[in-house]
Amino acid sequence: MYPILAKTKLNHNVDEMVIRAPFVARRCEPGQFIILRVDPEGERIPLTIAEYDAKAGTVTIIYQIVGYTTQRLSEKNVGDTLEDFVGPLGKATEIHPCKRVIGIGGGVGAAPLYPQLKKFHELGVSVDLILGARNKDLIILEEKFSKFCKNIYITTDDGSYGTKGLVTDKLKELVAKGEKYDEVIAIGPLIMMKFVSLLTKPWNLKTNVSLNPVMVDGTGMCGGCRVTVGGETKFVCVDGPDFDGHQVDYDELMRRQGMYKTEEAHVCKVGLRSA
Ligand code: NAD
Ligand code: FES
Repeated sequence: MYPILAKTKLNHNVDEMVIRAPFVARRCEPGQFIILRVDPEGERIPLTIAEYDAKAGTVTIIYQIVGYTTQRLSEKNVGDTLEDFVGPLGKATEIHPCKRVIGIGGGVGAAPLYPQLKKFHELGVSVDLILGARNKDLIILEEKFSKFCKNIYITTDDGSYGTKGLVTDKLKELVAKGEKYDEVIAIGPLIMMKFVSLLTKPWNLKTNVSLNPVMVDGTGMCGGCRVTVGGETKFVCVDGPDFDGHQVDYDELMRRQGMYKTEEAHVCKVGLRSA
């Protein structure tokens, strides 16, 4: 059993939880994820690791309440326990020392971006950040990023905070102004990662994305998380979750992501046992 040591609401739809999981915390690296089960009857869901502390034996997860299991998870509180907490899974992000990178975090995608950018900073790389969300309330982790990011550019779709527009508008503006980066690390909705990658491809600007498709076992056995990258079939859980953004077939992945929407809506209504 894995006790919940802290819980914070980052906004009406996103929670942060600190879980005691010493065996996981000891081996975590930026880019990796865990799979958890809330209770014995629960389904397995993958969640990206936002922070980890090997000494304290803790792992921090940040999740958006989007379906049945994240709703159940959000009903848990400090002192409660989680049934399973398996990880770290997936490959760690390949972080090569370079001069300057820019991270792009769309909505809750800012959570997995945080450990990656922090690691770049620790290696002496200058880090800029574009943080985008639909509105001011949905911008997360700005203060934490501000501890090491040189420049932070906020965008909101409705203009309630920062510049009105999409993250891609800001990236276009920065590059047009002559800002130079060695790499873009983009994490957020698939549609955002697709359009960031379409933008940076003609510039020959290395773009790393992190994918979070439907997963079941998380160990390369079920094929649930397959994705086409550079014309080859890859399994996100063991070959990723990070990939070269210019090689990912986003349209195929978006079709697959929508496959279980009807079932998810049904389970949310009637519960897992009666579904
Ligand atoms: P969202 O839909 O509110 O989008 C966030 C931002 O992405 C927008 O404000 C905008 O700036 C940008 N964006 C959206 N559509 C765009 C487009 N067509 N072109 C350019 N930019 C665009 O985000 P949300 O509701 O917080 O959802 C976050 C998503 O991140 C979820 O779909 C979740 O699955 C995903 N996520 C991914 C990971 C990962 O590891 N890849 C981890 C956590 C969450
Ligand atoms: Fe089963 Fe990746 S989740 S192969």
